[in-house]
Amino acid sequence: MTQHLQSLKGMNDIYFEEIELWQELEAKARALFSVYGYGEIRTPLLEDTQLFSRGIGEDTQVVQKEMYTFADKSGDSVTLRPEGTASVVRAYIQHTLSSRDEITKLYYMGPMFRHERPQKGRLRQFHQIGCELLGSHSPLSDAEQIIMMDSLARSLGIGQYELSLNSLGSVSEREKYLVALVDYLQRFHNDLDEDSQRRLSTNPLRILDSKNPKTKEVCQEAPLILDYLSVESKVHFATVQNKLAEAGVAYKVNPHIVRGLDYYEHTTFEFISSELGAQSTFAGGGRYNRLVEQLGGKTTPAVGFALGCERIILLLLANRTVTDSKKHGVYFVPLDVESLGVCFQHMQFLRSQMIPCEMGFELKSLKSQMRRADKFNYRYAVIMGESERQKNVMMLKDMVSGEQKELGLEDLLLSLSAL
Ligand code: HAM
Repeated sequence: MTQHLQSLKGMNDIYFEEIELWQELEAKARALFSVYGYGEIRTPLLEDTQLFSRGIGEDTQVVQKEMYTFADKSGDSVTLRPEGTASVVRAYIQHTLSSRDEITKLYYMGPMFRHERPQKGRLRQFHQIGCELLGSHSPLSDAEQIIMMDSLARSLGIGQYELSLNSLGSVSEREKYLVALVDYLQRFHNDLDEDSQRRLSTNPLRILDSKNPKTKEVCQEAPLILDYLSVESKVHFATVQNKLAEAGVAYKVNPHIVRGLDYYEHTTFEFISSELGAQSTFAGGGRYNRLVEQLGGKTTPAVGFALGCERIILLLLANRTVTDSKKHGVYFVPLDVESLGVCFQHMQFLRSQMIPCEMGFELKSLKSQMRRADKFNYRYAVIMGESERQKNVMMLKDMVSGEQKELGLEDLLLSLSAL
């Protein structure tokens, strides 16, 4: 027997009831983002590898270990996008999107690829919905994005979550801070886990994010970035916080939020839910004022975030009591061959009125057809056999009340069209 093939590890099929949650998430995100003036952008899944190595940072875990990079048939190094921001910035520069207006607001949704160890809420092909706002330095733009993400989470009915906020300052402020941080951590070199020891020279900020208990303990007393911010950066961060408070968005300042990609400065944020286990961050983002320049464009301030769809869906599944999906539409139940043909025609009429309806393609017993009507949550069943056909009527059964009545064809189609 031929062995059947499986999808790749960490890459899922999504279907049936679950896809309905995805569609709801996508529809709510689209509607909300357009209220905030965002338009959609679709960029290719494959990009020149350099876009990500330059954009995300050579020393990051994503670029070092997780990218799906390969040579295509012409020998060029290409990479399946591990995130969306670098691609949006590439498109922004390539098509001079800034020429339309000083501020550009774009959102995207789709698959991203990272070769990570799969576990709950962590996949190799996962999906993000992300927003990027290019062209504004204002802390109001940071606040607006966070408020927008917060209202999306609320409108989806996600219950308990925490919003963690930090500022990484400007590059020069961070450089000064990193000297103090490395100086401090060197003193505890032997207490740090192996990864963190290595990061002392490659990416010391990430040590603050370590899950190792001993390293965490050392980090408790580490110098804080917030003490190294200039007055200007402090004012920026304070304004973001004031605007969130005014909007009624609860947050906690957490100076250990560092993010995994290198392009951030000033405001960074993460939405975290303890219901998700180890992969608890369901959305994250921040300001990235140098990325456009780094990728060859004019210096342009920007801020953005992305949410992880799989993690949001896990939260929706956990928070929702499974209610029967609402009954809708009409199921046709023909009892003989001629009725099958007649029902088939009536169905086309109702469908042209956008009334959902269905029937089986084979003649089956009344009982088995009614079971199917019930299984797929049809609101009405329309039953037709020889006797109904002779009287030129059909039997309409309300699947909620169980009530049945005979109706002439015109009345029936009229009342079903008004559903
Ligand atoms: P990120 O923090 O790398 O940021 O990813 C954003 C979100 O994507 C995470 O919070 C998580 O929910 C989800 N995610 C990441 N990796 C996985 C995975 N392997 N499996 C499932 N979900 C995952 C970015 O990607 C930035 N581009 C966000 C951004 C936009 N910053 C500015 N603009």
